[in-house]
Amino acid sequence: MCGIFGYTGHEQAAPLLVGGLRLLEYRGYDSAGIAVTNGSGSISLTRRAGGTDSVARLSAAIDELSPHGSVGIAHTRWATHGKVAERNSHPHVGRSGNVAVVHNGIVENYLELKTGLTDSGITFSSETDSEVIAHLVAHEIEQGADLATAVGNAMKLVEGATAIVATSTAEPEKLVAARLGNAGGIVIGAAEHAYMVASDIIALLPHTNRICYLESGQVVTITPDSCQITRLNGSPVLAEFITSSRSADMAARGRYPHFMAKEIAEQPDSVTAAMRQRVDLATRKIDLPEFDLSPAEALSINRAVFIGMGTSLHAGMNGASSVEALARIPTYSENASEFRYRNPVLDEHTLVVSVTQSGETADTLAAMELARDSGSRLVTAVEAEGTQATRLANVTLPVRCGQEIGVAATKTMTATMITLTLMAARLAALRGNLSEEDEAEIATALSSMPALVGTALEREDPIKKIAADLTNYHHLLYLGRGAQFPVAMEGALKMKEIAYIHAEGYAAGEMKHGVNALISEEMPTIAIAPRDAMFEKMVSNVNEVKSRGGRVIVVTTDGDDIMESIADDVLYVPQTIPILQPVLNVIPMQMLAYHTSIALGMDPDKPRNLAKTVTVE
Ligand code: AGP
Repeated sequence: MCGIFGYTGHEQAAPLLVGGLRLLEYRGYDSAGIAVTNGSGSISLTRRAGGTDSVARLSAAIDELSPHGSVGIAHTRWATHGKVAERNSHPHVGRSGNVAVVHNGIVENYLELKTGLTDSGITFSSETDSEVIAHLVAHEIEQGADLATAVGNAMKLVEGATAIVATSTAEPEKLVAARLGNAGGIVIGAAEHAYMVASDIIALLPHTNRICYLESGQVVTITPDSCQITRLNGSPVLAEFITSSRSADMAARGRYPHFMAKEIAEQPDSVTAAMRQRVDLATRKIDLPEFDLSPAEALSINRAVFIGMGTSLHAGMNGASSVEALARIPTYSENASEFRYRNPVLDEHTLVVSVTQSGETADTLAAMELARDSGSRLVTAVEAEGTQATRLANVTLPVRCGQEIGVAATKTMTATMITLTLMAARLAALRGNLSEEDEAEIATALSSMPALVGTALEREDPIKKIAADLTNYHHLLYLGRGAQFPVAMEGALKMKEIAYIHAEGYAAGEMKHGVNALISEEMPTIAIAPRDAMFEKMVSNVNEVKSRGGRVIVVTTDGDDIMESIADDVLYVPQTIPILQPVLNVIPMQMLAYHTSIALGMDPDKPRNLAKTVTVE
């Protein structure tokens, strides 16, 4: 949830720390702060809280105060314990002010630790769980421990998934970071005479692409010229640096007013990237080299379970229908936060597919651990390679769309849908369920997807008009059937998330079972009704809503001439084969939410109360 950045080198740390926070702002943005340590034995703390511009206000304060020092830590917060206020912003300091700590995650036993510390005379200045860590580290140092030992010992007392970075005036050149469980990663970056740590590689890329991921239970000590990793007990671990192929430019917003607009517009490219070297247009064959199951292994699967949260769950629901349709394996999809606590029946014949663009979502990782411990074969579809999800899974399917910054997931969803369609086709082929003709048909349809996504994107004007009108409503209903049900769910989620309009995604067949009671002119319905096997049923649903006075916007496919005569507005998307149609239908859902958000004067990149990467339950 929160963003962490730390720098030790020979340059002034403060501007670099603020630069790092700008890139991590998407992880949490209700407060921001830095601590700069200088060689003369002091730590200067600057923090700003409230609003979505805390990093901008912190930056202005830094310009004015110019804290001096070449070592520092920084944090952008998504509040969990204690309201949004400067006293609750990170970094937090120990009693004497000689230690500062930034923290991501939750200290589950913080009340117990806090009581112990309070009893020993320590006064807390925040309501956070994080401050406990600052005091624990400071206490260890007072007892004579060096910073790395102090951090290791403090972490041994902490329960819950946690990542921290600490600085101490006693060893002013050093930063020590540690990770316990899955509370967002710690990535170490090696530059010339400087080392950095960050919760996301994106903050390191302007400085270096030589990176190393810290594992759970490890502690790293960095100075301008050294990097040492140990386990919590101090035993050494080899630091294995790799060269990342990501570039800093990938995160730039370019000519777009928002990252979300940029990421929506990038989808022809990101969909292409998801297929590159996986779909052979000459032979019309589909390959997914990462999905390296043998035919016998594929045949031994008797059930596939798709897990994820939010948009990733919706992409997983889509993947589940593709696997069922093509590979003829019984499938279901489930919210990872439910799955992990349900004691589900899993065994070695179950294929568990986790969908998580960040690879860091706490509930999804916990559900994956459960699946792994049950002996199931574990596949993950991720954007962020090298993250914890990829370390847990037997098979990683990179969706390859490039980092998504906007909090609302867009291009990650469509790239994941494409990747999972490829997986479904491969599974079907390995099990002998995919004829050459069917494979060729899917490969051909896939090859036209980038162009069709481009066409769907060009149809922005009618969407803007409808979006302006939707600003007058407080409730929306999204309806779909079959493969369009996850599209309806996603449309509603996007609208809630960035336009703050209450929206429900429903299976259209549910209408008569209660939901019809809501229909009135106060609540428009958005019906996803492409010309497919469910079209006639959707026509009936649209008629039912209309006859009860509801306004209806229909998303259908090119060539339809029926919906025009029934619905108030019709949005057309290009037609493709049924298994890929949801990818095109989700594009107007994204644009509708985006333009409604803009028309309401909101910032779609930073919706209130949310964060891009949800590393706590
Ligand atoms: C949707 O727009 C959200 N950003 C959210 O629902 C997201 O998809 C969810 O939190 C899962 O994230 P993940 O893909 O990183 O696991």
